Amino acid sequence: MKFLVTGGAGFLGTAVSNQLAADGHDVCVLDNLSNGTTADGIHPAINFVQGSVNDIPLLWSLLYDVDCVYHLAARVSVAESLLHPREYSQVNVVGTVSLMEAMRDSGVGRVVFTSSGAVYGRQPHQPVHENDIPAPDSPYAVSKWAAEQYIHTIGERWGIETVALRIFNAYGAGQALPSSHAPVVPRYLRQAMTGGSVIIYGDGSQSRDFVHISDVVAALKSAATVKGVNRQVINIGSGVETTVNDLTDLIEMVSGRSVNRLYNKEKSGGVTRLVADISRARALLGYRPRISLKKGLKLTMSNEQQAVDN
Ligand SMILES: NC(=O)c1ccc[n+]([C@@H]2O[C@H](COP(=O)([O-])OP(=O)(O)OC[C@H]3O[C@@H](n4cnc5c(N)ncnc54)[C@H](O)[C@@H]3O)[C@@H](O)[C@H]2O)c1
Repeated sequence: MKFLVTGGAGFLGTAVSNQLAADGHDVCVLDNLSNGTTADGIHPAINFVQGSVNDIPLLWSLLYDVDCVYHLAARVSVAESLLHPREYSQVNVVGTVSLMEAMRDSGVGRVVFTSSGAVYGRQPHQPVHENDIPAPDSPYAVSKWAAEQYIHTIGERWGIETVALRIFNAYGAGQALPSSHAPVVPRYLRQAMTGGSVIIYGDGSQSRDFVHISDVVAALKSAATVKGVNRQVINIGSGVETTVNDLTDLIEMVSGRSVNRLYNKEKSGGVTRLVADISRARALLGYRPRISLKKGLKLTMSNEQQAVDN
């Protein structure tokens, strides 16, 4: 098959693009490298194009003969979105509409969109199910929910199959560690391995659903080809609830180091609980998460160790 992957130089994008290329598919990556990402890790067989999802003429040239588009390009930090909501709307919402508009008459069969578990916000019960009404609590979460609506609505009008995967907290090798607003898993791993203290927002009892990148890639691959997913939103998590304190315990266990915990009670740890009901993913995608958090942390740590050594 022929694929276009927007945001394909990012953490998830590189993993899915490289897997598709390794499977022998024809893959083109479009990425403007704006999130501090680089094209260095991209498989040599992939055609990498530096550019924006808001550049419609460029999209026209890349969409020729494409069977399926993976739309991952986005600004991805909840905290940053509170500072720059317009920028988040411009990339995550308008960029998605631009992509859909460029696809009119292109013959593309399906779009797989990476939405986020963040769209749920604070919910009265856990685990969260796709039928629960989202309560986004950040411009980032609003932008992902709005983009879901756009792809499904435009796809319905123009006869393009669409599916949105609501990914929870993905982690694993290749995840960037930006100097501000870094994701919790690579941040804590790096701090544990370099002897630093981990800073825990709130009291650490807030819970999340951490899902290993290889499980996310398996779900993304399936979403491109299975039947019966048109216009669906599908949760992709591990289905396991883990508090930030539990995560820190596990990091201590796998690293064999005791970690100094500094609690910053002034700063909110976000929603109190968030864990995915993955029954729809099991039923529609044949999704079976295979990597436990303990195993995933070990795998990620061996990769981190190499980065620290270098
Ligand atoms: N990583 C997670 O835990 C997670 C969870 C839920 C949803 N998601 C979604 O998955 C997707 C990928 O996330 P990620 O963690 O790999 O983030 P990432 O920042 O590593 O990747 C996003 C990529 O999009 C690119 N990009 C940004 N603006 C662009 C533009 N205008 N045109 C072209 N490319 C642009 C960036 O340069 C970057 O390489 C995003 O849509 C994100 O919202 C990720």
